[in-house]
Amino acid sequence: MQQTQPLVSAAEARRADDRAPQPPEEALEAEDDHLRRPPSLATRLRLRLASSRPSVACASAALASTALAALMLLASRREPLAPRPIPLVRLSNGVELPLLLLGTGATTWMNSSAAAAQVHAALLAGFPGVDTANHYRNQRGVARGIAAARAAGWSGRLWLQTKVEGCGASVDPRSRILSSNCFNGTYEAVLRNLEELGVERVDLTLLHSPPCVAGAAWVQPAPGWPGGCGGNPAADLIYPHRCDCAATEPCAMMREQWRALEAAYAAGLTRAIGVSNYCAACLACLAAGGGMAPHVNQFRLHAGMPGDDPAGLVGATQRYGAVVQAYQPLAHGEGSLLRDATLQQIGRAYGKSAAQVALRWVLQLGKPLVTSSESVRHMKSDLDVVDWELTEEHMKTLTALDTHPDDPTPMCVL
Ligand SMILES: NC(=O)c1ccc[n+]([C@@H]2O[C@H](COP(=O)([O-])OP(=O)(O)OC[C@H]3O[C@@H](n4cnc5c(N)ncnc54)[C@H](OP(=O)(O)O)[C@@H]3O)[C@@H](O)[C@H]2O)c1
Repeated sequence: MQQTQPLVSAAEARRADDRAPQPPEEALEAEDDHLRRPPSLATRLRLRLASSRPSVACASAALASTALAALMLLASRREPLAPRPIPLVRLSNGVELPLLLLGTGATTWMNSSAAAAQVHAALLAGFPGVDTANHYRNQRGVARGIAAARAAGWSGRLWLQTKVEGCGASVDPRSRILSSNCFNGTYEAVLRNLEELGVERVDLTLLHSPPCVAGAAWVQPAPGWPGGCGGNPAADLIYPHRCDCAATEPCAMMREQWRALEAAYAAGLTRAIGVSNYCAACLACLAAGGGMAPHVNQFRLHAGMPGDDPAGLVGATQRYGAVVQAYQPLAHGEGSLLRDATLQQIGRAYGKSAAQVALRWVLQLGKPLVTSSESVRHMKSDLDVVDWELTEEHMKTLTALDTHPDDPTPMCVL
């Protein structure tokens, strides 16, 4: 999970020469003010904003915003624009989800200015949409990146998806949904996402994780972590936690959250609704609740886990009529998957990189994916996975690969 990784240092995040430069954080905060929601949404939201921002920063913010947009444009124009059409997959309600989206939950997590640069560059490179979350705390930056791309001439149909936290799963007061208030807290989080993203509705809203029931069903905290709801407050991380989704209390909380998403869907605030990191027991809990079936379950899926149905979660998700959306298809990029000899060797047969082989494997399984990059070169390479195919033999080899074992969701008692 992105949250289990230490935050990348600012120096590392800015290291590559094809990455867009960042404005100062004060400018970022002030720029956030420009993206306040329209009054109608503001009235509905009724949430206290976390802080009031100093108006003195507005002038410097405008300058920084202009400079940032110019720099991002330069960065993204280093190579010719050659967007490939990304195929779509149909959800059970007929809404069509692009197979490949940009994720903003890695190095641009908690960094709105980096997210703005990343999203702007990715859309111009050809990504059809963006995955974010209220917990990523970069949604205002995502909105700025979209606006900058449009200003630079990007006119595609944007897919915008976001998430609300599992009830009780966070210590962050800005996004925390209290376990005593799962329904209202979830609905308010949906509205807050819209406000931060500057839109009237999104394409997809996911429950980010199963809930956390204080003092129960938490196992295996990582060494040095306190465990329990909220994970590591010092690092503001929501992991690790494992929820026993079959237990009565978490199941009740999940159903409350799901009712709130159903209400948001009925109100037209989101074109589809789904879950993330939900294991079979969580899905069964929702199904027994008698409501809508989730349209999507987003969880970790990459080559080497091993197999094409780790922990049976692909099968379980599909049995409930939901589309599997893979996250971390490159195993977070920093491990050895991209240096894996098998992937590299297969890649050579097609003139492709190990990363492209890893992405292609997921797509060829018929699963949409969310991957992340801050490098324009990598973005373009990652998009070059839709008009060629791995042979059946290579698919079998990759599916059998067991060199990178991983949990499809580290948030459930499986
Ligand atoms: N629902 C959840 O709980 C959850 C959990 C985790 C992730 N997600 C979502 O899934 C997204 C993807 O996950 P992720 O970013 O952690 O992992 P990932 O997509 O598996 O890997 C991203 C890493 O791979 C590198 N990379 C990308 N393309 C490359 C290429 N062509 N060659 C070499 N390196 C390449 C990137 O570095 P460069 O910047 O150098 O290219 C980046 O560090 C997240 O951003 C988030 O939106 C959701």
